[in-house]
Amino acid sequence: MTDSGTIRPLREEDWGEVVALERRAYAASGLSEGEEALRSRHRASPSTCFVLLCEGAFGGYLLALPYPLGRCPDLRLLEQVGPAGTNLHLHDLVIAERLRGRGLAPRMLRHLEEAGRTAGYRTSSLVAVHGTQGMWSALNYRVRPGTPLPASYGPAAVYMTRELNGSG
Ligand SMILES: CC(C)(COP(=O)(O)OP(=O)(O)OC[C@H]1O[C@@H](n2cnc3c(N)ncnc32)[C@H](O)[C@@H]1OP(=O)(O)O)[C@@H](O)C(=O)NCCC(=O)NCCS
Repeated sequence: MTDSGTIRPLREEDWGEVVALERRAYAASGLSEGEEALRSRHRASPSTCFVLLCEGAFGGYLLALPYPLGRCPDLRLLEQVGPAGTNLHLHDLVIAERLRGRGLAPRMLRHLEEAGRTAGYRTSSLVAVHGTQGMWSALNYRVRPGTPLPASYGPAAVYMTRELNGSG
């Protein structure tokens, strides 16, 4: 039977795996932020950052933090903790290479959205990179036109949002 894994909050002992996977996922496209920046996103909202454990090992991570609608972290800057607000920004989601194609990213997303609803967030946002806009559309995110993005995301990035209490 396929192991759909366990999701739990990110802990100090996970950082080695998180940083290595992030580098493998983003270095080639110039989008890797590095450990200090990743840790600053986590510090801003530890209760909305998770790791996936699958087949007895680290299998991926997700970092999310509150951000006003229409804004997002700059990949080149450390996070400054601001007021919480009601929008939960999914900053980064990476599944380990060996586990891709099994629906684990949607599973982690559902986990985050449930935690977000419970914590009182009303909307969720993200920046689609690496041509993932189609995947996010299928997961109920819609493009929010006219949202300026930091240059650090590159020209192909797309800002998307969804209501957490509706279907779209
Ligand atoms: C993108 C990523 C998180 C997807 O994780 P995954 O668990 O392998 O996701 P799955 O392949 O199970 O895909 C789930 C669904 O999205 C679709 N999908 C996956 N990648 C896609 C893409 N790049 N474009 C369009 N659809 C995509 C799948 O076909 C699947 O659809 P289905 O349920 O209709 O079959 C993973 O490939 C990854 O970690 N990539 C590197 C980091 C990255 O780019 N993260 C996203 C940043 S916005």
